[in-house]
Amino acid sequence: MKHLLSTRDLDQSTAVGLLDIAEDMDAVNRREIKKLPTLRGRTVVNLFYENSTRTRISFEAAAKRLSADVINFTAKGSSVTKGESLKDTAQTLTAIGADGVVIRHSADGAAHRLAQTDWIDASVVNAGDGTHEHPTQALLDAFTIRKRLHGDASRGRALDGVRVLIVGDIDHSRVARSDLWLLTTLGAEVAFAGPPTLIPFGIDSWPVRVYDDFDEAIAAGFDVVIMLRIQLERMHDAFFPTSEEYTRLWGLGEQRLRRLGEQALVMHPGPMNRGLEISSFAADSAQATVREQVANGVSVRMAVLYSLLGTAGLGDTNGGLA
Ligand code: CP
Repeated sequence: MKHLLSTRDLDQSTAVGLLDIAEDMDAVNRREIKKLPTLRGRTVVNLFYENSTRTRISFEAAAKRLSADVINFTAKGSSVTKGESLKDTAQTLTAIGADGVVIRHSADGAAHRLAQTDWIDASVVNAGDGTHEHPTQALLDAFTIRKRLHGDASRGRALDGVRVLIVGDIDHSRVARSDLWLLTTLGAEVAFAGPPTLIPFGIDSWPVRVYDDFDEAIAAGFDVVIMLRIQLERMHDAFFPTSEEYTRLWGLGEQRLRRLGEQALVMHPGPMNRGLEISSFAADSAQATVREQVANGVSVRMAVLYSLLGTAGLGDTNGGLA
């Protein structure tokens, strides 16, 4: 595979292979000198048309730790503000010799568009496109779950039978979609919970149970709860009456955390709206993995860049490092 555009494209052995390479990268990231020569001479461009903290800096750290040359492009301050198109921007990247392009864009399908045209011949990694997909977030979520549940015995394992509940603004969430496809491929059982106004149209055909009551879902028992950010920037209508009511019905606070049980993992892709979808008590609890997810994001993105731009292509993953 030349590109990583969607977790729907990954079969179980490819996904497990990627997570195993991320284990190797995790070991590198625990060394004093966090550096491999693997992508020396390769150029990675981070092409961000939408704001980002975690994804942008972790892709930059990942590429640099693999010794690639890194160029960071943000739409603000570039010729995009003068009206330059994605095509002309892409052809500019070709002219400077990009081997990999990591793209975040507000339009669904932007990464696919870049990969499927002849505008560039670089590998394309989708770092989030509209409300469609965020595949590296799903990979780091899967890596974090596997690591917490299986520790040093993680290598080679999928997530068979792990019960995952994803809560909140499902409709605007590319993370919910990528998590659903990947975690299901890995053998997990995924459920969604959220207000009916924030559940996508056509969800009946997706492999997921949907709860319209958070407390009923908690009573059903889950190993992992992924709280989603309310994406106010994508909301042009009123999707819930007040933020207080949202927190009362859909927020994760101390009482719900206790009912989940202390063995349940609490995840959030960030950035968090503390006090809205998650309380500080829950976000800072021992069962929360928020900071681990960020740290694991570097290892997972190193694994993706290594697999796409190194000597082995994605799908030829053998878990070993050159
Ligand atoms: N989780 C995530 O994509 O965070 P950023 O928007 O900060 O990259």
